[in-house]
Amino acid sequence: PMAWQIVAPTPEEAALGAAHLTQAEIIDLNLACPAPNIARRRAGGHLLSDLKLTDAIIKAVRQAAPQAMTVKIRLGRKPDLVFLKELAAVIEGNGVDAVTLHPRLTTEKLKRRARWEYIGHLKEMVKIPVIGNGDVNSREDCLKMTAQTGCDGVMIGRAAVRRPWIFAEICGIEQIISPEFLLRTYEELFNEIINFFPPRMAIGRIKEFTWHFSTNLKFGHRLAARMQSLKDLDACLDFIRGNFIKAC
Ligand SMILES: Cc1cc2nc3c(=O)[nH]c(=O)nc-3n(C[C@H](O)[C@H](O)[C@H](O)COP(=O)(O)O)c2cc1C
Repeated sequence: PMAWQIVAPTPEEAALGAAHLTQAEIIDLNLACPAPNIARRRAGGHLLSDLKLTDAIIKAVRQAAPQAMTVKIRLGRKPDLVFLKELAAVIEGNGVDAVTLHPRLTTEKLKRRARWEYIGHLKEMVKIPVIGNGDVNSREDCLKMTAQTGCDGVMIGRAAVRRPWIFAEICGIEQIISPEFLLRTYEELFNEIINFFPPRMAIGRIKEFTWHFSTNLKFGHRLAARMQSLKDLDACLDFIRGNFIKAC
């Protein structure tokens, strides 16, 4: 099933978003995003500093959305089990179907280690499924997180963009990572992006995705850097076809 995510600063806007997403099979509420443009709107991870408002927003989405509803959280302002327990009670008490924890503080960058032990703590606090997130870059990491925390599912962020075959790998399917395989995978994702986003958004997404994906290539950084100045999608695709294999 495909999940759609809502990020909103008020119960009214969150409910409006949820009601609009009739095509979504799962609605996920973002209480985790630390990005400055989201924090300026007082949404995402910023909301964790106001548990009453968080409660009202979760309630509003739950009432507006007949679908399965999940919530994505971070740890908040400091690692604090009392706060996590209160937040967990608000989430579960509102009838949310599953919760994802990215165990970093709201202000922390992705370089710092994710505190997986808090996923285990959350698992003990609720009966609903807990999805762990943070620093899973391989099948081994995925198995380790599941074993260490008892989580019911794993969410993968950056590695899903860098190495989209990670999901096959986790299912035990070995991949031979040849330059041709990489190019084919890159082009598949390129097409997914242009089919999903309007052209003015697609080019930015493709450039960003290329930064992540280029870590698989020996001279990938140079390839991604050169692509940043290109103005349209055709130019990007021509450039990739002419230079990708050489950069491997
Ligand atoms: C470029 C970028 C965009 C992201 N956008 C979202 C988003 O829209 N919603 C969300 O819940 N998390 C978003 N995340 C966070 C990831 O879902 C995830 O929580 C974080 O990267 C840690 O997991 P990882 O170690 O598997 O990458 C984003 C992360 C990155 C790097």
